[in-house]
Amino acid sequence: MSHTAVPGYRDNPTETWDPDAPVDAIEAEEFLRLCYAEDKRLGPVEQRLSSVRAQIAATGTYTQTFDEIAYGAKVAWRNASRCIGRLYWRSLVVLDRRDAHTAEHIFALLLRHLRQAGNMSNPGMLRPVISIFQPATPGRPYPRIWNEQLIRYAGYRRSDGSVLGDPRMVEFTEAMTALGWRGEGTGHDLLPLAIETPAEGVRLFGLPRASVLEVHISHPELPWFEELGLRWHAVPAISNMRLSIGGVHYPMAPFNGWYMGTEIGARTFGDTDRYDMLPEVAKRMGLDTSSDATMWRDRALIELNRAVLHSFDLAGVKISDHHTESERFLTHLRNEERAGRPVPADWSWIVPPISGSATPVFHRYYHEADLRPAFYLDADAHERALHPKPSASGG
Ligand code: ARG
Repeated sequence: MSHTAVPGYRDNPTETWDPDAPVDAIEAEEFLRLCYAEDKRLGPVEQRLSSVRAQIAATGTYTQTFDEIAYGAKVAWRNASRCIGRLYWRSLVVLDRRDAHTAEHIFALLLRHLRQAGNMSNPGMLRPVISIFQPATPGRPYPRIWNEQLIRYAGYRRSDGSVLGDPRMVEFTEAMTALGWRGEGTGHDLLPLAIETPAEGVRLFGLPRASVLEVHISHPELPWFEELGLRWHAVPAISNMRLSIGGVHYPMAPFNGWYMGTEIGARTFGDTDRYDMLPEVAKRMGLDTSSDATMWRDRALIELNRAVLHSFDLAGVKISDHHTESERFLTHLRNEERAGRPVPADWSWIVPPISGSATPVFHRYYHEADLRPAFYLDADAHERALHPKPSASGG
């Protein structure tokens, strides 16, 4: 089987991954040279190179050291051309979970990931964390998580066609139901984690409320905002991207950062195929919706975004606004330039979905390049998260 990245997902759509192919020795060497050159503590690379070459020749792959996966994961974040939040790439907390094989053990470690990300000793002070599970071994099946994120709300289609919960998750919710899961039927049911291992097939694990930090949305001036019943989870934790380091592929390497307000306020709550809240907010604001030109959508969007930032602040949960995050990204660009490194960036993702031209990231162009280490979203992983087929993949 051969996995192709989602078309257009990367600037360079030529990345393909064949899970049956041996590790590319050239990519391994390039990575090791980069890693040992950037992190002098690791010592000379030559000895390591000869050992890795021998391992690849004998087994088709090689075992990376903790320092190598830790550095590789950080550089994969640094290379993520769609991410505006890369200034803090060095601060990524790397959890080495390569020895977990059973679904039960993997689930327990995912809960520990969420607790560590939410910084439960100081809740809300979120930390960027990645858990790196076992790499894909050429020619052998590997464990994976079906969910696109560790935390997502179920979506239930009602008979009148409307959706209770998150419309994006309707098909995933149906698949979980077909596999025996029962949600409570509220608008904020936490979806179970679907963990697939070669030995056990797919198994579902309910996410305990206690490991999920949530924020109820209110507005600094508009008291009726709470009546909308909006809330969101604190931690965005992507769980279906493949981490590629030095020719070794980690299909299960969930990672999280913290939210930029617009991801929730503009996209999740505003998009017409998500919560589609602009008409309701505009109505409650008493805006004139008789013409597009009254800019009722724009005005409602701004208040939604203010509400999200206000509510996270009130709850003491880390979040950032798009102005601050844009400034930080430019600082990151300058830092990297000084270090003599290019910063691959995708303008269409870096520029925030509201008030683009009011942020400095709008007024320039960026290098587009497919640098590795990297995170890739494979077409089948994307498909499994949004249109899963429980019968075809289980067992
Ligand atoms: N946009 C996604 C969401 O709304 C999250 C993507 C990752 N975001 C982040 N701030 N690390 O859930």
